[in-house]
Amino acid sequence: MVKKENKEIKKETRDKFSGKLGYVLAVAGSAVGLGNIWRFPYLAAKYGGGMFLLVYLILTVTFGYALIMSETALGRKTGKSSVSAFCSFGKGLGFKFGGWINSVVAMLIVPYYCVIGGWVAKYLFEYIKGSASLLAQDNYFTSFLSSSMSVEIWFIIFSAVVLFIILSGVKNGVEMVSKIMMPMLIVLAVAVSVYSVTRPGAWEGVKYFLIPNFKNFSFMTVVAAMGQMFYSLSIAMGVLYTYGSYIKKDVDIEKSTMQVEIFDTSIAVLAGLMIIPAVFAFSGGDPDTLQAGPSLMFITIPKVFASMGFGTFAGILFFVLVLFAAITSAISIAETSVSTFVDEFGWSRAKACGLLAVIIFVLGSLSALGFGALDFIKILGMSVLDFLDFLTNSIMMPIAALATCILIIRVTGFNAIAEEVELSSKFRRRKLYEFFMKYLAPVCIAVILLSSIANVFGWITL
Ligand code: ALA
Repeated sequence: MVKKENKEIKKETRDKFSGKLGYVLAVAGSAVGLGNIWRFPYLAAKYGGGMFLLVYLILTVTFGYALIMSETALGRKTGKSSVSAFCSFGKGLGFKFGGWINSVVAMLIVPYYCVIGGWVAKYLFEYIKGSASLLAQDNYFTSFLSSSMSVEIWFIIFSAVVLFIILSGVKNGVEMVSKIMMPMLIVLAVAVSVYSVTRPGAWEGVKYFLIPNFKNFSFMTVVAAMGQMFYSLSIAMGVLYTYGSYIKKDVDIEKSTMQVEIFDTSIAVLAGLMIIPAVFAFSGGDPDTLQAGPSLMFITIPKVFASMGFGTFAGILFFVLVLFAAITSAISIAETSVSTFVDEFGWSRAKACGLLAVIIFVLGSLSALGFGALDFIKILGMSVLDFLDFLTNSIMMPIAALATCILIIRVTGFNAIAEEVELSSKFRRRKLYEFFMKYLAPVCIAVILLSSIANVFGWITL
């Protein structure tokens, strides 16, 4: 009885975003982050340039659109984060599994996200100290990664900031930071990409990134693009259920989905234009640099800034904005975990933040030290950070997305989603939505899941 009353009180007092713009900015703040600026360019460089971009765009407007709509509508309809949202449609094990897998993804991403956030914070600190030319040196990033103490300290600082903002509540934290930082990020991204694409030799990079060339297509292009789409749009990690539960009934879900997709994709493309042409301008399109993976941004961007007359200023501005983009995304992923603990266990926010802090510290430290003191730990041949990224993006997110598809197709039905969407406006692309959910999403999910597993066990080479 008491528990029931508590739940009712919580329902009434659930924090809401202030309005349509507040919601779009908060979701954009969640979507735009390291995924766009750090992850997208290195995957595009590695997996086929223009071909990767084309596949990514197609997936975003079809599969991505359908999943954002679904998760947001279910979150708003139930007013709950993913576990309770699933369980409000049934009590069986399948519902629990579907809800928890969405939520656990967030708990596994946030620790290593904070590690990379720490790398960004360290670079910002070095720019402020005036070390622009040091950062542009060839081995700087590698030697930083192996300096375990420094990586760990920056990871802890970043995590502490995120947890502090989470403790201060959703509206104050997320909305405020997003409202100020997002527009600034766009302006700076445009400025740096214009500078980057106009460097001598950069044009080859622009062509590589923007013009699809079938020669560069591989199966991995599709797998990587799909994983990136989940990651970048914050799909299949419980975030959109949680944020959906914070929006008011008059927000046009379809329109905001489109706005968020356009915003998120524009930033990713701009980040690609900042970084990939610079690889060609500064390293002559060196195939090794194109394959650099997670270190690409940290190796390439300092070279761009070092070549500018005002590199220190640009470096500070760039890393401030990347840092804020990373913080707003990390907040959304952390908030998802906290709201799960609050909803499921009836805990206070402080207690929920406490447990999350422990998870972040343990998994994050293993990831942070995985390139230095703990570099002997390898899982399936990968460092802890790479393994967590692989496990979440290529295995768990497809399963989480599949759970959402099954919930809608088999349990709630499309009418339930349509009713929710139509509370505020006409469901303009309903037929397409249903087609994507029924046919495209399950096929895409099966492809990514099976090929990732087969690849990791060496059954196929992607
Ligand atoms: N969607 C977030 C990002 O792109 C996680 O960084």
